[in-house]
Parts: sequence; C-alpha cells; structure tokens
Amino acid sequence: MNKLRIGLIGLGTVGCGVYKTLEHIDNVEIVKVAVKNLNKQRSVDVPAEMLTGDPYEVVNNPSIDVVVELIGGVNPAWDYISTAIKNGKHIVTANKELLAKKGEELFNLAEEHNRVCLYEAAIAGGIPIIMPIKTILAGNKINKIQAILNGTTNYILTKMDADGASYEDVLKEAQQLGYAETDPTGDVEGFDAMYKITTLATIAFNSRVKVENVYREGITKIRKEDILRANELGFKIKLIANATIDENNNADVRVHPMLVPKNNMLAHIDYVTNSVAITGHPIGHIVLSGPGAGEFPTASSVVGDILAIAREFNTTDYLLPMMRCHHHSTANPVKIEDTYNKYYLSITAPNAIGVIAKIGTICANKDISLSSILQKGVEADNTAEITVITEMCLEKKIREVVSELDNCTVNSIIRVAN
Ligand code: HSE
Repeated sequence: MNKLRIGLIGLGTVGCGVYKTLEHIDNVEIVKVAVKNLNKQRSVDVPAEMLTGDPYEVVNNPSIDVVVELIGGVNPAWDYISTAIKNGKHIVTANKELLAKKGEELFNLAEEHNRVCLYEAAIAGGIPIIMPIKTILAGNKINKIQAILNGTTNYILTKMDADGASYEDVLKEAQQLGYAETDPTGDVEGFDAMYKITTLATIAFNSRVKVENVYREGITKIRKEDILRANELGFKIKLIANATIDENNNADVRVHPMLVPKNNMLAHIDYVTNSVAITGHPIGHIVLSGPGAGEFPTASSVVGDILAIAREFNTTDYLLPMMRCHHHSTANPVKIEDTYNKYYLSITAPNAIGVIAKIGTICANKDISLSSILQKGVEADNTAEITVITEMCLEKKIREVVSELDNCTVNSIIRVAN
C-alpha cells in the first residue's frame, strides 16, 4: 500500500497528539517533523533523523504529500504554507489567525495549484464544524451563529461564577494551572474567538467576512458583581461569538461578553468546553458542543482532515471538491453602532430622590424600554447600585444614554442575548 506521506511543522501539544494518533493509522506515515528546538523533551519519541530545525526541509521535500502546519501565527507560517502549496503539497492547518487574516489569498493560491487546505482543528478544536457545514449542511441557508469559541475565557468566567471570585484572581489561578497563557491577551481580549468566528461565518454564510470588520471586546472588564447580578436576573455571562447575515448580505459579526439567559444552552457550556449554535433553513437550530482545545481533541480534527485527503489521494484529479472555498461574494459589514441589542447596565448613583426616575426618563427619551430594574437597598457611602436591563434598542442610543447619566457611574455595559 502506498502510504500518504506527511510532513509536520510544529511538535507542541497538538503536534504530539497528532503524532501519537497517526502511529495507530496504517495508510499514513509521518516522514519529517520540523521543530523549533531539537533538544526539547517531548511526550513522543521521534527518531532523530526524522526531526529537523528547518521547516523548508519539510515544505521543499519532494516525497511529502501533505504538510500539516501546527505552529500558529501569520509569519512565518504563511511562508511555509504558501511554499508548500507551490511545491504541490496539500495543507492541513490549525492556524485560525492565518485563516482569518489571509484566508482568501490562501484558498486562491491552493485553487490555483489544485491543492486543498483543510482546517477543521482551527475552529472549536475537536468539535466537527467545518466539514459538517461544507458537506451535510451544504443545502442550508445559514443565517445565524452563536458560539463559545474560546476555552480560556469560558474557564475564567465559569470559575468567577462558581467561586464568586474576581477576574484577576481567577486569571492568576488559571495561569498557574496552565489553562491560561503567561501572556493571555490573545484569549482574554477576544482575538482568538474573533479569528475563529471570521472564518466560521465566512464558511457558514458562503460570503467572505473580513476580520477588520469583526467587532471585538474581551472579558477583562467583567466584574464579579456583574456575574452575581446576572445570576439573580436569570443569566450567565459568557464570551459569545455572534454572526448574523440578512437577505441583503449584511453581516453583523462580533465577539463580546453577553448575558445569556439560563434557558439558552450556551449558558450551561462551562469551563473549557466550546459550543456552536447554528440557525438556518431547512435545518432549523442545532448545537454542537465539545472540547475546543487540547492535545487529543484537536488531534482528532487534524487527523480527520489528513484521512479525508488520504481517502481520495491518487484517485481523482480534483480532490474533495466540497471542502474547497469558492467565495464569489464579500459580506457587507454592519457597524456595531448600528446594531440592535438588549443591554445590562450596572450603575452606581447617589442615593437621591428621583434617581431611578431620571434613568427611566433618559431611556424613555431615547425610545428605550426597560425590561428589569433592580436596587437592593442603599450602600454605606449613601450610593445606590442600580441594575437595569433594557429591551432591544440601537447601540448608538444606549451610548447616548450613558453619556447623559451625569452624577452616576456606569460600572458595566454588557449586551444581553436572546
Ligand atoms: N486558546 C484557545 C482557547 C485554544 O483558549 O480556547 C486554541 O484556539
């Protein structure tokens, strides 16, 4: 049997998981592995002659059929991948940042050279989502995605909720346990989820979404008090990646914290689990949940992509047509100011007669209806903590409300999911 010959770039956690999984699969063999540090201790025993410190020994190796890129980031990953495609290799990657920033160029290059680039592992780790959208859901018009796509932030928010702890304390603990990176910016500021929803929305909507048009807010400003109040009002706070598209190709794509009602399944996706809810026709509403990261879950997606290529390799001149990207349209971006949302506001106000009436009047003057308002007594410093949840209103209007709430401090503004 001719085995599919794999070159691996990157042998970190996921790379080791892929290596171990492929050891038990007999129609595929790893022939070269490029690593940054040849002497690093790893959980796999790779023969010395298979290792190289030079990724070009992988991408320029004429005997390699598929290059699996697991280093992440745009550069130098793009140089390796583009060289590999030009050299006739198929690509499997878990690189969400590269896909979000250079997806169009990448898929055009792959098509030009009649090669495929598969990336199931880049979005929601072990959850099968790209292949289902491209294949069995292909007959659908998907118009909405609501997802938890980052395990680090979901872990932090879940722990804050469970322990009544602050963001800073939980982050520190998560870093000690290895759940959060030493520099957590990519996760906690929402970049990781933004890259993932950019590609996911592009695929699901069959219309290109540009990463620069995706609105992003992270979780660093979420206070333990917000989580407590949200609970009292029937919500959990989650970092939600949202994407909707209308019949005129206007795409509202964003990542930000949200109050999620407890009757929405996403409210119960805890710790590092990811979840993707998709709405479309004719499918209706489906939710896929599972491990969004980690050695073996991510390896499961990488290996699935490798085996999809292995199955058709040398059997056809045009591999995996359904898995290719052919976007002829680019979605029109919707600015966050022009979106409609419900809002949670936490306000600290002086304990004075008419404060609640004033908040109500300012909202009423902007045509904003309130759905909840909560004050539990008066604080020792003679201030009142007032929590408000609005009905649907224009983002621009809520910003005007906040600027008109003089004498009050607005501690938090968080959008509320349906
Ligand atoms: N850093 C990501 C997370 C996993 O925390 O979910 C890989 O994208």
